[in-house]
Amino acid sequence: MTILVTGGAGFIGSHISVELLNAGYNLMIVDNFSNSNPEVLRRIQKITGKSFEIHQIDLLNEKDLERVFIENRIEAVIHLAGLKAVGESVVEPLKYYRTNINSTINLCKLMKKYHVRKLVFSSSATVYGMPDKVPIAEDFPLKAMNPYGRTKLMIEEILQDIYISDKQWSISILRYFNPIGAHESGLIGDNPNGIPNNLMPFITKVAIGELKELKVFGQHYPTIDGTGVRDYIHVIDLAKGHVAALDKVLKTNSINTYNLGTGQGYSVLEIITAFESITGIKIPFQLSEPRLGDIAICYADSSKAKMELGWEAEKGIIEMCRDAWRWQRKNPNGYQDNKLISNSRIRDSGLMNMESTEEVEKNVVDEKTYT
Ligand code: UFG
Repeated sequence: MTILVTGGAGFIGSHISVELLNAGYNLMIVDNFSNSNPEVLRRIQKITGKSFEIHQIDLLNEKDLERVFIENRIEAVIHLAGLKAVGESVVEPLKYYRTNINSTINLCKLMKKYHVRKLVFSSSATVYGMPDKVPIAEDFPLKAMNPYGRTKLMIEEILQDIYISDKQWSISILRYFNPIGAHESGLIGDNPNGIPNNLMPFITKVAIGELKELKVFGQHYPTIDGTGVRDYIHVIDLAKGHVAALDKVLKTNSINTYNLGTGQGYSVLEIITAFESITGIKIPFQLSEPRLGDIAICYADSSKAKMELGWEAEKGIIEMCRDAWRWQRKNPNGYQDNKLISNSRIRDSGLMNMESTEEVEKNVVDEKTYT
């Protein structure tokens, strides 16, 4: 059974790809590599020992995407591809609306045309805006605070309308809390471009000496120590949540929304302390002004996912810090030192079928002679 994962080479997508292959699904990744590195594909294969297909396609290019649907029998789609930087979305709203909304419309249009009506969509806890209370349940009022969040909310509404128009669809909307950590092999992990916006990659870059100190945004929030509280979830748990949601959409015809979090909130200072005690590395930090648009406290009520999907997060803060650090330590420059399969190669070929390890190794050798 072939599952198409859009954005499958990204941080979350690569971990979902591993879990899908481990669960025995055939995997097809569509990614434009705008915020990911093709080296991740070799790593996914190394972890799983399995082959899969990859198409370098931008979802805005409907013609290219249609070829994938014409040439393959796709059973379901996990849709992650999209832009995700909150700050950038405020500066360039049109880019966010165009990319995130139009690509989803293209995808759903083709799914409808080729009778693929099973979809798992990557949404975000950002759709709750500033919640009145915690833990946050799925039926809380929705109010996104920035263009990125609004694209997620609009797509959720589009999907509801699609389902209303045709009850043969089966859709699972997953609202992520704060994914951190990495695969325990240390082969894949979060690889942000430039200076990280998010807490954990910033901490690991301070730990490795690439950045001098962490700025802790806000010290007077009504929380345990005045710093912001979030529901951090191990990316492997998050990936397993997708497999559970996929199993459900494959079996039913319905639309459902689930929070994917641990239900446990940690402050920024608690995260720093946990990271220091696990790694033995001191993280220099400075308390500073709150970041514009940040909320004080955010954590999930994930009981619906437990009840209906049989899923709950298993990994704790120790594993999250340990695995994030292992990834950073083993890959001080992310995937950059290992461009064994170059962007240009994939761009030129358009399609790469990862048939076997030998094939990948051949690509690696070719690449060496190619550059
Ligand atoms: N923080 C710092 N210093 C930093 C970075 C972050 O103190 O350098 C703090 C933030 O103020 C916040 C906490 O660490 O209190 C977590 O911040 P992140 O940037 O890691 O994550 P956010 O909760 O701000 O945002 C994340 C995703 C968004 C998503 C949101 C959903 O990045 O895409 O969760 O709740 F919308």
